[in-house]
Amino acid sequence: RSVGIGRAHAKAILLGEHAVVYGTPALALPIPQLTVTASAGWSSGAGDAQGDLSFTMTGSASRAVVTQASDGLRRLAAAFRARMGVPGRPHLDVILDGAIPPGRGLGSSAANSRAIVLALADLFGRDLSEQTAFDLVQTAENVTHGRASGVDAVTVGASAPLLFHEGRSQELSVGCEGLFIIADSGTAGSTREAVELLREGFGREAAAQGRFLRRAAQLVGEAQQALAEGDPGALGERMSDYHRLLAAAGLSTSRIDTMVEAALGAGSLGAKITGGGLGGCVLALTQPERARQVAGQLHEAGAVQTWVVPLRRLADHA
Ligand code: PMV
Repeated sequence: RSVGIGRAHAKAILLGEHAVVYGTPALALPIPQLTVTASAGWSSGAGDAQGDLSFTMTGSASRAVVTQASDGLRRLAAAFRARMGVPGRPHLDVILDGAIPPGRGLGSSAANSRAIVLALADLFGRDLSEQTAFDLVQTAENVTHGRASGVDAVTVGASAPLLFHEGRSQELSVGCEGLFIIADSGTAGSTREAVELLREGFGREAAAQGRFLRRAAQLVGEAQQALAEGDPGALGERMSDYHRLLAAAGLSTSRIDTMVEAALGAGSLGAKITGGGLGGCVLALTQPERARQVAGQLHEAGAVQTWVVPLRRLADHA
């Protein structure tokens, strides 16, 4: 082949972010309508100074043209070569075209990596197991985020809501109706900094880590049950409780807190920050008849973009 193509989509964490880095379970949602496509082909130029890959980013989320691969993507290309037995250091151009805004807790780095891995496998005619694809994406994620739990790497390739626990995932049973509204605060947060902030806090006060992880695991368990039993009210309450837990740990922002309050004020069943934090997105759960008001109030409170993910659409894949 002269061109390889790969695709992946965004993700949102329903509950359990940050605690999942310490081994407790998390619930994650694929966002099928926010995708990225990678096209990999032989470079017509000399490639960048360090060989391997040069990049062009296109699409609405990334207007800039980037000609150097990040450290994570460079490592990904090297790992792919080593693992899949590609000889030499081929000069490749990779074009990433997508609309997943970076730094918003939507898994853009994992989705970009997965799309690239699949494009390279397609270009070199290699069959990839899911495990190998996951391992390669994790190679890049660990460089980008410091220490990544793996929840992003799995969910950007999943078609149904997942329970992720210690590197393993299983599809969740979904008995609920409802809509998730994802609202972008317009401000990027660094997952690496957020993970580090929490670790420093735990280092200063040993008991805080145990308290945080116990509460997180309890809320995740209760939310999983509410989701399975079709109790969106209980699910929403656990989401708002989890937001309070993350906010108390210093991982929210005043704009995000305002957006969460606005969603709840408009009749949302629950709302929280999602992903790494220190910026990024709010995830709100609502009944369809309140969706217009909730989205409207989120925009009033500063959201620059909103997306709707119906639970039914996700459940139909499960
Ligand atoms: O911000 P995102 O989309 O990279 O989500 C990160 C989720 C964390 O739990 C904060 C980190 C991780 O590795 O699980």
